[in-house]
Amino acid sequence: MKVLIVGSGGREHAIAVSVAKSKQVEKIYCAPGNAGIAAVATCVDIGAMEFEKLADFAEEKEIGLTIIGMDDPLVGGVVDVFEKRGLRVFGPRKNAAIIEGSKAFSKDLMKKYSIPTATYENFDSPEKALEYLEKAKMPIVLKADGLALGKGVLICNTLEEAKEGVKTLMLDKQFGDAGNQIVIEEFMTGREVSVLCYCDGTHIKPMTSAQDHKRAKDNDEGLNTGGMGTFSPSPFYTEEVQKFCEEKVYQPTMDAMKAEGRDFVGILFVGLMLTEDGPKVLEYNARFGDPEAQVVLPRMKNDIVDVMNACIDGKLDEIDLQFEENAAVCVVLASDGYPLHYEKGKVITGFENFEEKDGYYVFHAGTKFDEDGNIVTNGGRVLGITAKGQDLKEARKNAYAATEWISFENKYMRNDIGKAIDEA
Ligand code: AMP
Ligand code: GLY
Repeated sequence: MKVLIVGSGGREHAIAVSVAKSKQVEKIYCAPGNAGIAAVATCVDIGAMEFEKLADFAEEKEIGLTIIGMDDPLVGGVVDVFEKRGLRVFGPRKNAAIIEGSKAFSKDLMKKYSIPTATYENFDSPEKALEYLEKAKMPIVLKADGLALGKGVLICNTLEEAKEGVKTLMLDKQFGDAGNQIVIEEFMTGREVSVLCYCDGTHIKPMTSAQDHKRAKDNDEGLNTGGMGTFSPSPFYTEEVQKFCEEKVYQPTMDAMKAEGRDFVGILFVGLMLTEDGPKVLEYNARFGDPEAQVVLPRMKNDIVDVMNACIDGKLDEIDLQFEENAAVCVVLASDGYPLHYEKGKVITGFENFEEKDGYYVFHAGTKFDEDGNIVTNGGRVLGITAKGQDLKEARKNAYAATEWISFENKYMRNDIGKAIDEA
């Protein structure tokens, strides 16, 4: 079978490496891909938002399965375009991807179906939002309704900050139309856990857990980023927590989407906060996390193509999802200055150190080939260095050792990925 993957980041590289392990797969294409993905797939110069061109390509090359990695095309309806043309595709349709595309939608869904989450109100008028804030308890959280590269969430400690936040999101429109509507919600405290689940519209199977580090600097300081590193599994996601989430969060979310006529097929990413009052949903995403995929997929034992096909066919209940009894840590190597200003085009060396090293991976996020054939930096997040270990501590030691194998000018990383492990 031929497979097409849509996207160009570390997540899509991790998906490609997983797909490449499948015995059913003879050829992988990736649109648009990057310099690392090019080692396992043929990269095709079609953008992730060029739906008809992607479908033309899938038709022409007789692609047996297209996997959509990114949120924008999913929310924009790429799956509907493929399905209309009779092409096999993994991901939620537009009417289901809205669970990520609109935070107001997802909050209303949780309220209607009693899924635990922070209390909130939705606002489409800045005046009403400001009026509400006057009586609200601080700290408080403001969220742009639409997609904002994971950066449209403002945690405000004072009324002044919150008022400024309403201005930033709704009046200055820092995130464009994503801020036409905002959610204002209660501030929660606790451990965060990401659980990515396979879904077939009816059944839902959670994968092993992970934790991301969203802030740019050590000790969770600095600006929010797409994610600076992950570990899996989370020691805080106990069997008891998992059981609660299966009963009160995962299956109820599947059932709620079905009841709304929005059957969810694909990956449901559930961002959880483990509060004193039990686990609560922070957010839903309609795709694998980045860099969660980089620690979860290397630990999955199943053939990913089998699992995705079972999702498309509504037969996920027949799959016995299995993960290795070990741990993985991913440290992101970024360009210094990310997420604001940073330079690109720096030559990266040291990839050969990863050759034939079992349990070590270098996933490319922002890289490309320059005119001389060198691999150069081409984004804020450049590489994700993943290593496995028997336990989290060993995995972390291995991952940090492997970060030394790679060199480029401007290389920046957090030095405390997985620090929470020590507190478990
Ligand atoms: P989200 O994109 O909704 O996951 O939000 C990004 C980050 O903001 C989360 O990973 C949390 O660290 C933080 N956050 C979001 N909502 C809340 C909340 N209600 N209380 C505390 N922190 C939050
Ligand atoms: N790592 C967080 C996300 O993919 O949304």
